[in-house]
Amino acid sequence: FGRPWIFIRGVPSMKFLPPEGPLEVAFAGRSNVGKSSLINALVGQKALARTSNTPGRTQELNYFVPDGYSGGGDDLPPMALVDMPGYGYAKAPKENVDAWTKLVFDYLRGRATLKRVYVLIDSRHGIKKNDDEVLDLLDKAAVSYQIVLTKTDKIKEPAVVKLLAETQEKVRKHPAAFPFVLSTSSEKGKGIDELRQAIAETVGR
Ligand code: GTP
Ligand code: MG
Repeated sequence: FGRPWIFIRGVPSMKFLPPEGPLEVAFAGRSNVGKSSLINALVGQKALARTSNTPGRTQELNYFVPDGYSGGGDDLPPMALVDMPGYGYAKAPKENVDAWTKLVFDYLRGRATLKRVYVLIDSRHGIKKNDDEVLDLLDKAAVSYQIVLTKTDKIKEPAVVKLLAETQEKVRKHPAAFPFVLSTSSEKGKGIDELRQAIAETVGR
């Protein structure tokens, strides 16, 4: 995570995906859970991924890579971070919600270079029905994923501990899930180093 990261591509539908190359690490979760904020915290750049108070901010698969790669031939970056549109935001126009959900599901199911998905769960809400659908899809597609609790600064420490234990227990039933749940606050910088390390191990660096 040493060098500056840059935005390379926004993908509105599957046919605009870049050719499969570097390993991809994707961030999925309900609208407003804090996906874009977590990517910014990871790379230490405040405004790499666009964030907003209003759910539905990220509307495409946004690809980020470390700066300094030509993008041509065999000069491939070691990995790409993929910020995803959120799911479960009922207030946006139905066509948009359907398109984002389809894109998210198609991508998660069908991307050979997708190495690991971080599924973000708001620590105030825990795992909801639509999160369960995503976890089941990842289990079925045998795509490796890890659960990350977000916004832990918004609840008290004992509540974080309790939710972590509960979530850990739920995750044990999911075959493709990494057995340890991470807990983070992008706002306070909590758990970010642990997540960086987890990603580095995943992509083999
Ligand atoms: P969509 O792209 O709309 O799906 O949202 P997202 O999941 O990318 O969420 P985003 O990062 O845009 O954050 C949503 C809101 O939550 C913003 O107002 C952030 O400032 C806030 N937020 C994100 N992470 C944290 C956190 O760790 N703590 C607190 N208190 N707020 C956070
Ligand atoms: Mg976003």
